[in-house]
Amino acid sequence: MKSYVVLISVTAALGGLLFGFDTAVISGTINFIQPYFGLSEAGLGWTVSSLLFGCIAGVSLAGKAGDYYGRKKILTVAAFLFLVSAVGSAMSTSLPVFVIARVIGGLAVGVASILSPMYIAEIAPAKYRGRLVSLNQLAIVIGILVAFFTNYLLVDTGENNWRWMLLVMVGPALLLFFSLFFVPESPRWLVAQNREKVALNVLIQTAGKELARKELWDIRQTLQNPEEAAYRELLAPTVRPILWVGVILAIFQQITGINTIMYYAPKIFAQIGQSNDTALLQTIAIGGTNLLFTIVAMLFIDRVGRKFLMVTGSVGMTVMLSGLSLLYFMGQATGVLVLIFILGYIAFFAASLGPTLWVVVSEIFPNRLRSKGMSVALVSLWVAATFVTIIFPVMLEALNGAVTFMVFAFICLVNLWYVVRYVPETKGKTLEELEKELLK
Ligand code: BGC
Repeated sequence: MKSYVVLISVTAALGGLLFGFDTAVISGTINFIQPYFGLSEAGLGWTVSSLLFGCIAGVSLAGKAGDYYGRKKILTVAAFLFLVSAVGSAMSTSLPVFVIARVIGGLAVGVASILSPMYIAEIAPAKYRGRLVSLNQLAIVIGILVAFFTNYLLVDTGENNWRWMLLVMVGPALLLFFSLFFVPESPRWLVAQNREKVALNVLIQTAGKELARKELWDIRQTLQNPEEAAYRELLAPTVRPILWVGVILAIFQQITGINTIMYYAPKIFAQIGQSNDTALLQTIAIGGTNLLFTIVAMLFIDRVGRKFLMVTGSVGMTVMLSGLSLLYFMGQATGVLVLIFILGYIAFFAASLGPTLWVVVSEIFPNRLRSKGMSVALVSLWVAATFVTIIFPVMLEALNGAVTFMVFAFICLVNLWYVVRYVPETKGKTLEELEKELLK
């Protein structure tokens, strides 16, 4: 694989790092912003979820904007918004300013969540596309870990500690902003803009001289219609089944419960009577497992395929959550046992639905409709994420662990059925070959 392509993908994946960081950093600030802004429990819930509402808006806007202005430009705008959000939230002295800054951060997360994987998929050679787009998931996971660590390191820096925690994001935001000046635009977008010469140059650098002309020709064939793509084209009989796969996979990635653990692990452990001083250890164990098994997925995704990973992952997640539910049911939910099943669940998620969703959703749509199709699928993802985040603490309180985790185990099982039955394998083919095959 060309190191140039890797470098470009790493740059775009910084968007994923900021996505991970920004969604996770808030957890460490909660205990300090709540008294500072005088928030009730409900107020805190709304303040924390303000980011998610921004994400929904960001990902909806990015579909059209990515087509109109290009993937790279809009990603640069996202980097700038991350910067504004970091500084704004860190310096805020009133709740409205804080919430607005977090919504701006959400806009940036939404934009990055669609454009980073899409841009990588459009620039990557078919053979390594799975691995390269998974870099984005690896970056999300690293971003989450960085947030947990910097929160931990900064907690004793006095009354402004939460401000420093939020300000950390300035570093990666600046890095993304400036490094984007050195990467080319997506060749697929360039062809759509009739800038074929530039596109060919990019393809020569990414795919090599021999393949470049053929790829350019293939891309051109898929972009014959000169009019701007409309959202309603997603409902055409040939495209609709693809849209469904994108939307349903995106929803499943969230409602199979990953963020009940990522956001609420301390709450789960507190509920079974674990003291707070092992919280850091648990966080490290969860983050480390997430990281390790994302790498495992990257090693295998282009060899065994996306579908195989999704299937094994869904089986594993079902087993782990059922085990967890059983522990509660039998009154055996002790710290160590719960942690073992949670880590098992995280490992299976990280090796499957974590990376594969981003890979598949950026591969299945035709060139002409990728941006809009992904936008619809990922709006569904963020709505589902918001829903699970709001509903989980209520479920855990009202239904207890046995029922709550059994519900999520059941959803994993349904996901397994759906993947086996409806999800196409996308490994190894160029986006244009896939387009021909999937539009049939
Ligand atoms: C999901 C996030 C999740 C993260 C955890 C991502 O693929 O979209 O919701 O927090 O993985 O690693």
